[in-house]
Amino acid sequence: MKTMRVSGEPDAKPFLLDCDPGHDDMVAMMVAIAAADIELLGVTTVAGNQTGEKTALNARRVATLVGEHNLPIAKGCERPLYRELRTAPHIHGNSGLDGADLPEPTVALRPEHAVDFMERVILGSDRPVTLVPTGPLTNVAMLLRKAPQVRENIERIVLMGGSMHESNVTPVAEFNIFVDPEAADAVFTSGLPVTMVGLDLTYRALFGEEDFVRLEQSGGHVSAVVAPLLRFFAGAYEKRRGTRAAPLHDALAVAIARDPSLAETRNFHVAVETQGRYTTGQTVVDTRGVTGNPPNAEVAVEFDLQRFKSIIFEAIGCLDARPSPLG
Ligand code: RIB
Ligand code: CA
Repeated sequence: MKTMRVSGEPDAKPFLLDCDPGHDDMVAMMVAIAAADIELLGVTTVAGNQTGEKTALNARRVATLVGEHNLPIAKGCERPLYRELRTAPHIHGNSGLDGADLPEPTVALRPEHAVDFMERVILGSDRPVTLVPTGPLTNVAMLLRKAPQVRENIERIVLMGGSMHESNVTPVAEFNIFVDPEAADAVFTSGLPVTMVGLDLTYRALFGEEDFVRLEQSGGHVSAVVAPLLRFFAGAYEKRRGTRAAPLHDALAVAIARDPSLAETRNFHVAVETQGRYTTGQTVVDTRGVTGNPPNAEVAVEFDLQRFKSIIFEAIGCLDARPSPLG
């Protein structure tokens, strides 16, 4: 197990996290911030789980909670490329991070738009950047359209989104893809290396009551906030999935981006439905090669749950060891 951040390792991998916090986005941020082998160049936010204002505020609050005072955070698109925004207050609450009081943010937003920030940071990186989107892909699609030259310095896009068989918004679609299917189509047809971490896996990346108790019993100030937040998140899923457990969708994407050995992937062609009357937002994964289309994504099909849970506890434990912003 690689150690968590005490100070960045010289060969740390440059990452950008594009997210819509969101409870599971929060944990994804924590893993990326804590990992010594990740150089987190910044966090960009997008409208999704909640409005653009709220997801940006939530990212600032998470950075404040964990003491990442110099984390560059830039706010992005307020709505999908062509469609009206669809949020998820029934899952994440009115704030987008309901369930506990987060500190008032002391980490400021960068003045530039997320897309401009991503362009500048990617083109300015001395090593190719791994881009981890965990919300609707609006910012990423805009980036590729505005500054196609960034393609030369993107190592891989490891996205949380889509599914082979599972769904959560419609009988066939996953939320991040459903909110902005045209943006997702732009990413999957970009020709860039893409890893898709979809619901088929992330619905198994579950944190339950025993995990919340373990967090609370740790006595850490970050754990003390994360536990009730994830209990809230688990409650929302209990109503829909029957089990009171929090699927850490986005944290799994970051963990796999950080260490691909955590998961098993298969090369499949993935198409995004943008015209279907009943199927818009579906990721059509050609697992049998019947379309004749060449594979365009590595689709995660298995992962090591125990290793994943250890990574989460180690990351939060590392952040617990920092000074509390609450004094
Ligand atoms: O469908 C789950 C995804 O949608 C996660 O990224 C969650 O945070 C929401 O954005
Ligand atoms: Ca998300």
